[in-house]
Amino acid sequence: KTPVALMISGRGSNATALVRAAADPAFPARICLVLSNNPQAPGLEMARAAGLPTLAIDHRPFGKDRAAHEQALHAALTEAGAQAVCLAGYMRLLTPFLTQAWAGRMLNIHPSLLPSFPGLHTHERALDAGVRVHGCTVHLVTEGMDEGPILGQAAVPVLADDTADLLSARVLEQEHLLYPRALRHFLTRQPASASTASALLVA
Ligand code: GAR
Repeated sequence: KTPVALMISGRGSNATALVRAAADPAFPARICLVLSNNPQAPGLEMARAAGLPTLAIDHRPFGKDRAAHEQALHAALTEAGAQAVCLAGYMRLLTPFLTQAWAGRMLNIHPSLLPSFPGLHTHERALDAGVRVHGCTVHLVTEGMDEGPILGQAAVPVLADDTADLLSARVLEQEHLLYPRALRHFLTRQPASASTASALLVA
């Protein structure tokens, strides 16, 4: 199994989906560290309960020194033996230092069908734009925010009486299915499967 670190900032529901997937002996990753910039992240508690190594490196004491914070993150990832990193609701922008150090080995999940709606408040913006199809994307992390090569996407319909909360819940359900599948495909370098469910477009 490939040692994979997860980086979170909050709830950690995607991290939970990855932890559950990795509990399967047939899954190609083992979670070697759950790392957060937020010591209060509920996802850290989930990881501890699952018996996984966790670490919080609070960004606040570093002030404006993003480089020093990222060096500490990088040291922790390296120390844990991570060969790949999954950002799972990690809500701080990364500088080129960390994205370059992990180029081709760092994945992110984003709650929209990229390249539509990079950034924040994706569900509100999808509703405002009137799109009929929305979803989530797993992609490789590059310097540009939410811009790297797409590894997989899952689509959901936007319904007539949707609110941002309803739409967000519908997308989140797909995120939890997509991320483990995309990570598995990434680690095993499997080509796209023709038998993939129609709502789950893992490329
Ligand atoms: C998820 O919806 C994830 O796609 C999104 O934050 C949420 C985290 O939830 N990520 C981003 O917006 C990244 N810019 P979680 O902590 O329960 O996984």
